[in-house]
Amino acid sequence: MSTSKAINETRDALKGHLKTAHPVGIILGTGLGGFAREMTVRHKIPYEEIPNFPRSTVEGHDGALLIGELEGVEIMALLGRFHFYEGYAMDQVVYPIRVMHALGVQTLLLSNASGGMNPDFAVGDIMLINDHINLMPSNPLIGKNDETLGPRFPDMSEPYDRQLQKTLKDVAEKEGIHLREGVYASVSGPCFETPAEYRYIRIIGADAVGMSTVPECIAARHLGLRVAALSVITDLGVEGIVEEVSHEEVMAAAAKSEPLVASLVRGLIRSMAEA
Ligand code: HPA
Repeated sequence: MSTSKAINETRDALKGHLKTAHPVGIILGTGLGGFAREMTVRHKIPYEEIPNFPRSTVEGHDGALLIGELEGVEIMALLGRFHFYEGYAMDQVVYPIRVMHALGVQTLLLSNASGGMNPDFAVGDIMLINDHINLMPSNPLIGKNDETLGPRFPDMSEPYDRQLQKTLKDVAEKEGIHLREGVYASVSGPCFETPAEYRYIRIIGADAVGMSTVPECIAARHLGLRVAALSVITDLGVEGIVEEVSHEEVMAAAAKSEPLVASLVRGLIRSMAEA
């Protein structure tokens, strides 16, 4: 089945659940599923019940699509994403982004957990992603381009929407949240970085490193979506103080900072509702 045929099939299975033409899309990263409590959820649809959807395999990712409202704005939130390291092909990793676009999503908010390499960062900090470096060995746009989705050579001069970044910074200031800002580098994983890898990724210009988000941002920009992304710093890969890290620690640190991410997202959505 062609990708766009599959996307349309998935769209048709879901569109009856939506109340508005342009819901806001959100992807909840590792340990950040608590955000679901903020929403008034009308539908919780496990991935296995969604036609053509890949399934989530990682602990800490429940694997369900939530449809509901926050601050009077229609939201589609993905609880659990598809990671490259799980063995999914890139077009599966970004499949939900294309489905959200087909359902009218124009603004996409991404969240994740990452390792901080900027020496000013501390565990628990939230970093506004202002740019990225794709260090994954692939790209979701490799292969024959589907012109109905977007151009062969998409511009990436503003991967993360400047206006959304400004609004998030304003919300952070109002709420007294010390929001960090920086460049996110994506790696395939699944192993965490060696000290030399953290050093290398820092030297080439990144502030944080993780195993997601970049393919989703690329697919979203290909479709013309506005993207904002927040990263919770769950461990440090800072020169001289590279700590041992486990998935459990990453999940726990992310869950601890989740209320801050939720406040930022709520504030952003409120400002969108007011606009
Ligand atoms: N490296 C890569 N991915 C991660 C990290 C890390 O240190 N922390 C959370 N996700």
